[in-house]
Amino acid sequence: MFRLGSMELTSNLFLSPLAGYTNLPFRVVVRELGGVGLCTTDLVNARSLVERNPKALKLVESDSRDRPFAIQLFGSVAGEMRDAARMCEDLGAASVDINMGCPVRKVCKVGGGSAMMTELGRTQELVAGMVGAVRVPVTAKMRLGWDDASWTAPELARALEEVGVAAVFVHGRTREQGFGGGVRLEGIRQVVQAVRRVPVIGNGDVTTPEAAVEMLRRTGCAGVSAGRGAFYDPWLFRRTRHLLDTGERMAEPTFEERLRIMRRHLELMVEVFGEAMGCVLFRKVAPWYAKRFGPASVFNKGVVRVSSRAEFEGVLGEYLRWREQFCDGEGRLLPRYQLAPMLASFQQGEPESARREAIPVPSGPVEVW
Ligand SMILES: Cc1cc2nc3c(=O)[nH]c(=O)nc-3n(C[C@H](O)[C@H](O)[C@H](O)COP(=O)(O)O)c2cc1C
Repeated sequence: MFRLGSMELTSNLFLSPLAGYTNLPFRVVVRELGGVGLCTTDLVNARSLVERNPKALKLVESDSRDRPFAIQLFGSVAGEMRDAARMCEDLGAASVDINMGCPVRKVCKVGGGSAMMTELGRTQELVAGMVGAVRVPVTAKMRLGWDDASWTAPELARALEEVGVAAVFVHGRTREQGFGGGVRLEGIRQVVQAVRRVPVIGNGDVTTPEAAVEMLRRTGCAGVSAGRGAFYDPWLFRRTRHLLDTGERMAEPTFEERLRIMRRHLELMVEVFGEAMGCVLFRKVAPWYAKRFGPASVFNKGVVRVSSRAEFEGVLGEYLRWREQFCDGEGRLLPRYQLAPMLASFQQGEPESARREAIPVPSGPVEVW
């Protein structure tokens, strides 16, 4: 059991928001596989939510399979953030998360995202208003600071603790770093040391159970949150939970299991977005599953054109026939095509070249997250 404010979670592992990716279908996939304590929606503009903009409402869509879930808000107008927080509570959110880490211009320009890390007093006041307005826990997600000259996260975390945030999520990079360079575990550690009692959840580049354990050990953080790592490997939480609980490594899923979950993901996309839109959105999802398939160029080329489930099955069938040349008589990938585990930027003793490839940033409108 893991306590987060008034909430009891079954695990200290969290799904980080990835705008455009961590929608309801993906959250259900991750939960069905197990190991995750709390999943967060993509960020949503507080004002749009209060105005009941249909796109904003779709972003926070959830159902009984997706519990407990947090809604992440961004905005800088205290009244709007407070009203939006109330609305999240009414929508069934178990907690409300505030985005203080987004470096995207559109978000910072209006004083939201990373810009909140530069105005401590104002941010503290805004958060106090939200905490006072809802019964559910309010959490904050931040980066280390704006740039290397100002790692404000420890101070901000402490200030937010004073006004009642229930947890702090910290991505171990600065706003200036974008996604470049490594995650700085010492920065996360400084945040852990700055607060008195609220749990600090470490985030950044966790792609394997071993990386999660290393982050916990080297920072003293209370839990770990993963975004891209979970997208790349939806089994990440289940396998990390297993390692934490038993000390034993759980084998990576088989190719057949990967196919089963990929199909399940598409099924949920179609259920939530309709067949045409679900398939179009799945074009950018499927290649992530293929990253662990071994040779997959035929699949990746075909899948970016699918518009229906039948077309998807056609592409998959063609790919499976093509893939046979890389397998032994029993359908197992020949050793020379098998992939080594991914490595996090902060894992010790690994050559820089091995780490560089470690985790791609998905393309899309938020390339500079
Ligand atoms: C495509 C993309 C979208 C993201 N969207 C959000 C978002 O909506 N809210 C947020 O707080 N962080 C967002 N992030 C940042 C992630 O939540 C996370 O902090 C970051 O990717 C580092 O963790 P990871 O290495 O586990 O992905 C996004 C990152 C990416 C790559």
